[in-house]
Amino acid sequence: MIITGNYPKLRLRRSRKYDWSRKLVQDNNLSYNDLILPIFLTEGKGKEVKINSMPNVNRYSIDRLKNVIDRALKLGIPMVALFPYTDPKKKNVYGSEALNENNLVCRAIKFIKKTYKNKIGIMCDVALDPYTSHGHDGIIKNKEILNDETIDILVKQSLLQARMGCDVIAPSDMMDGRIIKIRKALDKYNFKDVQILSYAVKYASSFYGPFRNAVGSKNLLKGNKRTYQMDFKNNDEAIREVALDIKEGADMVVVKPGMPYLDIIREIKNNFKIPVIAYQVSGEYSIIQNSIKDGILNKDAIHESLISFKRAGASAIITYFADKIKL
Ligand code: PBG
Repeated sequence: MIITGNYPKLRLRRSRKYDWSRKLVQDNNLSYNDLILPIFLTEGKGKEVKINSMPNVNRYSIDRLKNVIDRALKLGIPMVALFPYTDPKKKNVYGSEALNENNLVCRAIKFIKKTYKNKIGIMCDVALDPYTSHGHDGIIKNKEILNDETIDILVKQSLLQARMGCDVIAPSDMMDGRIIKIRKALDKYNFKDVQILSYAVKYASSFYGPFRNAVGSKNLLKGNKRTYQMDFKNNDEAIREVALDIKEGADMVVVKPGMPYLDIIREIKNNFKIPVIAYQVSGEYSIIQNSIKDGILNKDAIHESLISFKRAGASAIITYFADKIKL
């Protein structure tokens, strides 16, 4: 470390004295270009349904997407992430609705692509949890989440989403080896420019609760996801996951959840020169939003929380605040 002087010659408060001066020496900054907006989808027409577990977040029917996306575009948000609330009647043990080319996500992708062309990126989760009757991300046999059999379905899900016009395929299932199989399939069917944003580092977390409620999998979920999502007591494993996914062909990686895992983002940035996307998940969002509602925090806490990701080294942040924060 280089120490440039000593008190009283050196006074670090000097550069903090004025607003202009503080601006001048800022290491990190946040703009809408850094934010990815998750959007929850619902069937029907004219629907904007409140989500109880997530204050100020709605589920939208496809015909209501235009308002949301117009606003996102105007702000400068580069990409949206789509998450469907699937009719429970369409769920089964195999999650077969994931492969229905007329499912909610497919129709939403087509609508957005047709309306906005390539003016905004579309990212879609690849995993079966919105579609399975047991709420798990893969298929189950004898109480085990099957890895390779699940991948076969995820490859089909990825190809389908790519065919509909999805720009960024985001496997969030945590099966081993899915990135290489998805990359190979995308290339084979000439989706060479479709990107893969791997949820490489996804911890088995309690902070996903409000999201599971939003996609309707919370009450269905039997057990927990600890046999495939990572143990939050581990850090080295995150490096191994990212190393593997880079080898397999990931263009970018996600660290998830966000704020409790800033150390992991930094560690990955120190080890790999790949864009890291932080996911400020539903639980983090709801805690902050409820605290603001209760007067415990003021709105500046949102900005502070998002800057922490930039400081840790994230290139962008998936956050439910994306279209709510004033920058
Ligand atoms: C599903 C998925 C989850 C989230 C994104 N994709 C939940 C889970 O793994 O149970 C969580 C996002 C959030 O909490 O905001 N594969």
